[in-house]
Parts: sequence; C-alpha cells; structure tokens
Amino acid sequence: MPFPKDFIWGAAAASYQIEGAAYEDGKGLSVWDMFCKKPGAVFQKHTGDVACDHYHRYREDVGLMKAIGLQAYRLSISWPRVIPNGTGAKNEAGLAFYDRLIDALLEAGIEPFVTLFHWDYPLALYHQGGWLNPDASSWFADYTAVVVDRLSDRVKRWMTFNEPAVFIGTGHKDGYHAPGDKLRLAEVTRAAHHVLLAHGKSVQVIRARAKTPSYVGYAPNGTVRIPHTNSASDIAAAKHAMFDTFDQGVWQNGLWIDPVYLGYYPEGLLKAYGAEGPPVRAGDLEQIHQPLDFFGTNIYSCDRVRTKAGGEPGADTVQYGPGYPLTGINWPVAPDSLYWGARFFWERYQKPLFITENGLSLRDWVSLDGKVHDPNRIDFLTRYLAALRRASEDGANVAGYFQWSILDNFEWAEGYRERFGLIHVDYETQKRTLKDSAHFFGDVIRSNGENLPALAPTVG
Ligand code: GCO
Repeated sequence: MPFPKDFIWGAAAASYQIEGAAYEDGKGLSVWDMFCKKPGAVFQKHTGDVACDHYHRYREDVGLMKAIGLQAYRLSISWPRVIPNGTGAKNEAGLAFYDRLIDALLEAGIEPFVTLFHWDYPLALYHQGGWLNPDASSWFADYTAVVVDRLSDRVKRWMTFNEPAVFIGTGHKDGYHAPGDKLRLAEVTRAAHHVLLAHGKSVQVIRARAKTPSYVGYAPNGTVRIPHTNSASDIAAAKHAMFDTFDQGVWQNGLWIDPVYLGYYPEGLLKAYGAEGPPVRAGDLEQIHQPLDFFGTNIYSCDRVRTKAGGEPGADTVQYGPGYPLTGINWPVAPDSLYWGARFFWERYQKPLFITENGLSLRDWVSLDGKVHDPNRIDFLTRYLAALRRASEDGANVAGYFQWSILDNFEWAEGYRERFGLIHVDYETQKRTLKDSAHFFGDVIRSNGENLPALAPTVG
C-alpha cells in the first residue's frame, strides 16, 4: 500500500544553521552568536555568521527546492532577527525577510511549515535569566504574536518548539550547546517547565490571532526504543523503555511530550526528580495542554531493547555490534526507528504524525565529474522511508515527512564538518550542487513513495 494520497513531502532547515547575516539589517544577537565565540565551544571555531548565506540567497534556494519537487519546506524564524532584544521593538527588516521568503515559497508552490523556535534565543533575554525567568513564557507569547500577526495571512502550519530536550539538556545541563550552561537539576526542570508553558501560551496566541485557519503542532525529538525481536514481550519492553522508564535526565518522552499531548507529567518522572522536579503551579498543566492538530517529531536513530533478564518489568539495551553501520556523526543506522517510532507515538498520542526531521551526515564532496555522489544517503533514505511506509500500512496515521536537511549547514557544536544536506554547499564560494540523493528524493516525492522497495523489518 502506498503512502496516503495527501501525504506531505518536504525538507527542513533552521534559521541559525543556514541564514548567516548574523550582524546585518538590525538583527539582535542570539545565544548561538555568543557561544560560537567561546574558545573551544565549536569545531574549528566555526560560526553561523555567514553559514549558507541563505538570507541573501533564499531565492536561489527556493528555486532548488522547486527543482527537487518539494511540496513543503520547514523553516524556523530567528527571534532576535525580528525582535532584536527579545521583547519590545520589532525589526522591520527582519520581518520583511520572512515575508519575502514565504512569498517566494508560495510562488514556487511550496507550503511553508514554520517553527517559531529552533534554538537561537535572544542574548538580551539570556542576560535576564533566559528560560529561568518567570516571565520567559510571556516573552515567547509576545514574540509569537508578532510573527503570527505578520505571517499568518499566508502561513497555516505552525510548530512552537524544535527539540526542547536538546536546547535545555545540551544547552543548559551539559553545556556543549548554547548558552553553554551546566545548571543543577532543579534549574533544568524549571527552565523545561517554562518552555512548556511558553509552548501552551504560544498555541493560544496562534489560535487567537491567526488570520487563516491554522494547523498547529510541536517538534520534540522522539526518544525511540525498538524491540530486538518481534516477540510480544520485546515489544512491551520497548514501549516500557519509551514511556514508563524514568531517570533524572532530560531525554524522556514523559518530560516533553506527555504534558503537551496528555496533560500531565508521569508520576514516575516526578518521583525520579524528587525535590528537583518542575515547579508546577495550579493551572500550569491546563496551560501546557492545548489542543494540537498534529504531532511532529524528529527521529534519526534509536536504541534496541529486549525483555529484562529474569522477566522483571523494564528493558535491557542490546548494543549494536562491532562494525554496525554508523553515519558520519556516528549515529547507528536504524531504519526501524521510523517504523516503531511512528507506531508507538501514534498509539499513544493519537494525532496525525509528521516526521519533522530525519536524515544523516556524510563526508560528501564534489567529484571530478562535478557531481556529488552520495549512495549511502540514498540507501539510508530508502531503508527509513520503506520502514515508515510499513508503519503507515500497519495503521499509524503518518501525514508527512521532512528530510533533514535541504542544504549542508552549520551543525551546532560540530560546525560545518557534518554534511546533512540534499544539496552540497561549498562554503568558500557558496556554490550549491544537488547531490544524487536530491534527485532520488525528487523521484520518491513524484511517485509518493511507490518507487521504494518493500523491505522486511530488521527485527525478526
Ligand atoms: C537537531 C536539530 C537540527 C540538527 C539535526 C542534525 O535535531 O539536533 O533539530 O538542527 O541539525 O537534527 O543533528
């Protein structure tokens, strides 16, 4: 069975990773502008100052998206580009850039999916305590209003946050993403709670102010566990590991997804955090739990698990063996993360599912023939998309897929070393070259996935 007829095929990118123009046209600074200047923070001192220069080359980039055949493009808005200090005065030039970008996409017949926050937090607000400040969620709601007032006559599909687990966990707990903090757990869960409140308020703002009917979701990273075998007990173990196993960390669906889609923090999670858990006040969970239209999630890889030795509840991780295929950034190639991820998330949250990111980095370069040959990306996409199609056949309501990423770009602390794009970027000249995988992905789109082979699951 093919993908649903109205399935949406797209690719994604994010403001700081591609725009550049970091100091132009009145843009304020973000925590990433600050962090990249910190010695040792980013591979070879790379920065997003110029990145793919998409701020100036967006027309060419939209032309390439059209040439590939994208139906949708997931972009993010840079908060400090539109409100330089995070609150207060707007920056007309910044808003005008997004106007032009959205218009170019619509003219090309490409539907914009807009993420309001993909990590480039206004530095001025960080100086006021950032996500720890009790006003943090109101600042985000006010920012949402500015964007929605400006773009919602044309933009209909919205996501509030991209991967809060990463910008809170990696940025505020482990310190290797911006802003580079290593906070105590109680502050981490406080910041997380404020992000969730900001999500809820932002959804309310979109609903109240959008000029056209809006379709609203969220894009957390899905922490996925897949069963080592197809046995009922391994499947139960995988679900248990995904939804009912808690620790003091931030990589748990119970922290980021259950409150938003189900309206509660799981008891086991609150127990694990103990006195350092999120500071929940009366009414907060109602605020966080706003009706949403879709469930977006970024899935790249996952752990495999099996029933716990001795049969107790829980799951044991099954290590990938020596020589197991890894992507450029050393993530295991795990196509069934899309199969089980889609099935388990659909079962639990019952919202149409968008894979808002999936892809891999490779060490691509331009060959002597002037082309970029990336057979491993084609192989990866074939395997993952065949797995996603099986999930759809087995009843998961899968509504769309966004490949990460349209262009090679700034991969956070890894700088430009990791190339995730369908389009190769030469950062010296800004020349773009469609990789073989871009042509392949275009064929997938045109056939709505019917050109993909039927592949057996990797577990048996
Ligand atoms: C993330 C972000 C992207 C990354 C991509 C590859 O998932 O970390 O959403 O900005 O670039 O995922 O790591």
